[in-house]
Amino acid sequence: MPVDIVGGGQGGDEGTGKICAYLAVKGDYDYSIRVGGPNAGHTIFFNDKIYTLKTMPGGFVNKRAKLVLGAGTYIITDWLEKEIALTGAGNRLLIDPHAVIIEPRHTASERADARMMGKIGSVGTGLGAAVRDRIDRKPLRFAKDEPRLKKYIKDVPELLNKALARGSRMLLEGTQGMKLSNLHGEYPFVTSRDTTASTFMGEAGLGPKYAGEVYAVFKPYVTRVGPGMVANEIKDKKVLSRYHTVGREVGSVSGRLRRVGAFDMDVARQTVSINSATRLAITHIDLLE
Ligand code: IMP
Ligand code: MG
Repeated sequence: MPVDIVGGGQGGDEGTGKICAYLAVKGDYDYSIRVGGPNAGHTIFFNDKIYTLKTMPGGFVNKRAKLVLGAGTYIITDWLEKEIALTGAGNRLLIDPHAVIIEPRHTASERADARMMGKIGSVGTGLGAAVRDRIDRKPLRFAKDEPRLKKYIKDVPELLNKALARGSRMLLEGTQGMKLSNLHGEYPFVTSRDTTASTFMGEAGLGPKYAGEVYAVFKPYVTRVGPGMVANEIKDKKVLSRYHTVGREVGSVSGRLRRVGAFDMDVARQTVSINSATRLAITHIDLLE
């Protein structure tokens, strides 16, 4: 089947972005699609340069691939414009008219919310506030209402479905990880969306029959930025510092040091089951002692 999906198997930050970039080149997909919000940073090493992308698909590294943001993508326009400049890939970018613009008021209200920033440990991008407005059917700015994005707007479901009919192949880049899913994760220490494969398809405007391989990305240990469950958490400062330095276990959007725990087989099993994962990818294997 023509749409391969990549998602995180643990508490986020499994290296999904790197796997997406690798697959985009290796699998030479015609389209790379990204969904979700800018609270997730995909860090990619490419041609001696580090790219931390909060919105642009990691698949930009394949110069032939069209890059797509679906109706389930949440955009901070200033950040996206910076990434367009950084990647030089604006000429390949297509955005669904109903992708939502996260406005400064969303970011401000989330950052002013002591419970969200404290107990939940929100990244503070305003994604949750924008999702809430959408659920409440409050006035919102969509990508189609943003003059700066006008040239990228396309009917994404129509475009993708026509491309599928022509035999195109697509890589769908999910965000965060299983433990952060609003449906299946460790509520309330979760994000404001579901973060499993079926939802990524819906957020892009794709039906389930097109799903092909489903990649679940893991590390040989588990990390978490902020509060929530971490089984067998490492507390030894010396051991932890190796993860924070060599392993770069520092939030790419939030800058927070990530908490580290042992690999959790129950979570891995749950991930494989709920995502119907067909392939496993493991990053940071070099940190195994
Ligand atoms: P929010 O989605 O920014 O509101 O954050 C809610 C919870 O999910 C917090 O515990 C965050 O640390 C966590 N979270 C959200 N996005 C990411 C991510 O991309 N990587 C790791 N943790 C995340
Ligand atoms: Mg991340």
